Amino acid sequence: MEKLRKAAGYLSARFDVIPETAIVLGSGLGGFADEIENKKVVSYSEIPGFSSTTVLGHAGKMICGDVGGKPVLCLSGRNHFYEGHSMKDTAFYVRVLKLLGVKNLVITNASGGINGGFRQGDLMIITDHIKFFDDSPLRGENYGELGPRFNDMSAAYSPDLIALAKKAAEKENIDIKEGVYAFMPGPSFETPAEIKMLGILGADAVGMSTVPEVITAAHCSLSVLGISCITNMAAGISKEKLSHDDVKKTADENADKIKRLIRRTLSLI
Ligand code: HPA
Repeated sequence: MEKLRKAAGYLSARFDVIPETAIVLGSGLGGFADEIENKKVVSYSEIPGFSSTTVLGHAGKMICGDVGGKPVLCLSGRNHFYEGHSMKDTAFYVRVLKLLGVKNLVITNASGGINGGFRQGDLMIITDHIKFFDDSPLRGENYGELGPRFNDMSAAYSPDLIALAKKAAEKENIDIKEGVYAFMPGPSFETPAEIKMLGILGADAVGMSTVPEVITAAHCSLSVLGISCITNMAAGISKEKLSHDDVKKTADENADKIKRLIRRTLSLI
């Protein structure tokens, strides 16, 4: 808790006002930071506890400012489990946001489509997730002031924010999908047999991020909205070989659509 408090204390001194909504910019959405007005930027490396707990491979920063007149706190850069971080460390920032007073967490990511009705480039609102790997960001000592030992996960993705995002998609004329996101640890993409299994289990898309953060957010009662860009059809569904370069390319090509959706959703929150 001490480490979390130090990080939050530093940030609240650096930012005059803490917005109610924070956005995590996933693959391809880095450019969203350019749309922020009146911005104040803090590098992760400056934040005490942050850098040592969550060493980033690339320049990570928090940007506080306005998007379409709405205050927002953007996180550009995040850690992944496949990089060797524990799930707790990948989700460190979520608890810092909670201590800062943030109420809503919008998480964007890239994923592989499993649902046969999806196409590369689609956007999917995450309605729920599946994770079946042993580590948990909440394993170990429970911080009772943040949440209970055994926390409820029945509405981890806020029904209210999902409704707003659907309304935003309608206003922006974006054909939005909804579905269940399966967390896989990576860094390998999945095998076709794993994808077949995930489909049978009820997953619509698969990815290697987000879920540790959402579990942590649910524990401390942050409202979460998850938006996933289907950057490729998952292994075996697509006959093509999967590559990170292609994932990035599709995310970049669809960045504008995600930006419009996020901007409009923010205006409705
Ligand atoms: N699998 C896992 N993670 C991903 C994928 C995928 O197919 N595409 C983008 N992130």
